[in-house]
Amino acid sequence: MFYGEKVKLRPLEESDLDNILKHWNDWEIRRTLLLPIPMSRVMEQEWLHNAVRSSPFKDGRVIFAIEDKNTHEFLGTTSLESIRFHNGTAEFGIAIMNKARLGMGYGTDTTTVMLWYGFHILNLHSIYLRVMEYNKRGIRAYEKAGFKQVGRMREQVFNEGKWHDVIIMDILQAEFLEKFPPGTFVGEPPNNQK
Ligand SMILES: CC(C)(COP(=O)(O)OP(=O)(O)OC[C@H]1O[C@@H](n2cnc3c(N)ncnc32)[C@H](O)[C@@H]1OP(=O)(O)O)[C@@H](O)C(=O)NCCC(=O)NCCS
Repeated sequence: MFYGEKVKLRPLEESDLDNILKHWNDWEIRRTLLLPIPMSRVMEQEWLHNAVRSSPFKDGRVIFAIEDKNTHEFLGTTSLESIRFHNGTAEFGIAIMNKARLGMGYGTDTTTVMLWYGFHILNLHSIYLRVMEYNKRGIRAYEKAGFKQVGRMREQVFNEGKWHDVIIMDILQAEFLEKFPPGTFVGEPPNNQK
């Protein structure tokens, strides 16, 4: 398991279906995603069926559940997708699903742990992400974790009656290792889990 200062990342399980559906169709959350459509139980079940079987080496994809490391509350999911080992690249994704838990530092911490996993375990060279230009909270959280804004795709998403740009951000392994050199960790298990 991988720990941050506040979160624990663990394998996603099919039994997480109800955890996901509890908050997943809230518009405040969905409007930040590149595919802002409501998800039915069957759609989510199918996604979960594939997600829990995916491996970075076989499918170029790894998805974790995010939990509060002290209370074990399920907070959301995070992923590295489109992993290409020959180039050492992957796309980062995250969703904290309960809006009552946004802005509490979980996103920055999760992002940092996923970068640690991508650079320290998978030996990736560069990790990138796409974020809606109006998702200022997301952009700020990613910058705090070390991502830099490197580009803008114009009018990529039609949502709420308008076209919106998508911001591209990335971080190189060497940049992450300046802050977290080999042998360092983002966080530790709580004392009762060591
Ligand atoms: C995006 C997301 C992962 C960020 O995680 P989070 O836990 O909410 O964010 P954090 O608390 O770690 O950091 C948020 C930062 O943004 C700042 N912020 C919040 N709203 C802001 C705004 N409107 N403008 C600028 N900064 C803002 C906060 O003050 C904080 O920065 P600070 O620590 O310097 O004060 C999370 O909000 C989320 O999952 N949202 C729903 C789905 C989503 O957006 N997914 C990402 C799609 S790319």
